[in-house]
Amino acid sequence: MIYEHSKMLDHFSTGIFAAMDAKKQALLDAGRKVYNLSVGTPDFEPPQHIMDALAESARDPYQYRYSLVDGREMLEAAASYYLRRYGVTVSTDEITSVNGTQEGMGHLGMATLNPGDVVLLPDPGYPIYEAGSWFGGAEIYYYGLVKENEFLPKLSEIPEDVLRRTKYICVSYPSNPVGATAPKSMYLELIEYAKKYGFFIINDNAYSDIIFDGREGYSFLSLPGAKEVGVEFFSLSKSFNVTGLRISFLIGNRSIVNALKLLRSQYDFGMSYHYQKVAVAALTGPFDSVTKQCAMYQKRRDALCGGLRRIGWNAWDSHGTMFTWIPVPEGYTSASCVETLMETCGVVGTPGTAFGPKGEGYIRFALVKTPEEFEEIIDVIGTHFPR
Ligand SMILES: Cc1ncc(COP(=O)(O)O)c(C=O)c1O
Repeated sequence: MIYEHSKMLDHFSTGIFAAMDAKKQALLDAGRKVYNLSVGTPDFEPPQHIMDALAESARDPYQYRYSLVDGREMLEAAASYYLRRYGVTVSTDEITSVNGTQEGMGHLGMATLNPGDVVLLPDPGYPIYEAGSWFGGAEIYYYGLVKENEFLPKLSEIPEDVLRRTKYICVSYPSNPVGATAPKSMYLELIEYAKKYGFFIINDNAYSDIIFDGREGYSFLSLPGAKEVGVEFFSLSKSFNVTGLRISFLIGNRSIVNALKLLRSQYDFGMSYHYQKVAVAALTGPFDSVTKQCAMYQKRRDALCGGLRRIGWNAWDSHGTMFTWIPVPEGYTSASCVETLMETCGVVGTPGTAFGPKGEGYIRFALVKTPEEFEEIIDVIGTHFPR
């Protein structure tokens, strides 16, 4: 028997990523060298003290129980980290753990939205923002992120009737996929809009530790008034290379945090104690590996973007994240560029259109190779990519 899935699932497909995976596999099967720059998982290792914490926890039989709720130790570690790292004071009841921002973002939509609500999402943007909106049965209004406006939202262009029905807006800087950063004035304007129209702000703080050329990685919650109208997802995935463990937090406005906690209490028995130990180690331990890693990402960015410019591509330097957002050469679309790069060079990127229609004309490359490997990739593209 084949059973029909829910109507809500009609919004989703594995489409483009599955097709790219199949293509990549076909190249590998044909014995071709493949440079996979489409992945979002860092190739760096977790710091030793984090792996030690997990190993120690694994040997302790007490840590294998249901956790049910977030432990005090972890919540206090998160609160003190926010004070130390970002100068933000939060109390432990303004924090909940989530099994990764991905999970939290999906369920926050379910916990806060009703049919008839509107959510404001970036185009191009990280796909899970859409999923959360569909889970909550809301309508989506896409605000465009374009180069001419430095990939920042133009709030004044959003129609008044949309703003009046808006429940929340998702923003994220440094931004995946576009690699842009935002000035604090952008968030301050957003806070004014949220107050005026009664919506809340979800800031996805995934990359404040991967930020280049001396820019400051900050928390949205450090801005005056932010906590009254917003929350922030704070993921450990990319700063500490623990993507597979699924450790993130929702921090900020208590009523929003409580809504997510209530929903989570119905389907989840809490973050594993092992991962709570990892979180404590990350949040209370040394920070030097994060700083060093950021410098290494910057060197990779230089090798890739600088290299592409050398061979005649119109590539600009991304400001942060582990991604670069590169305009495709003339005569190509996102899809045809990705396809040609794969076939002629074995280089796998992600078409900008995977992140929304305004991604047309771009390709996203992940900074998951060493500078030396990027030099090799640039040579291959310079030699084999037809222009
Ligand atoms: C913007 C953004 N938000 C969230 C995530 C996912 O974070 P997590 O691993 O905590 O689900 C990613 C991962 O690529 C991301 O790029």
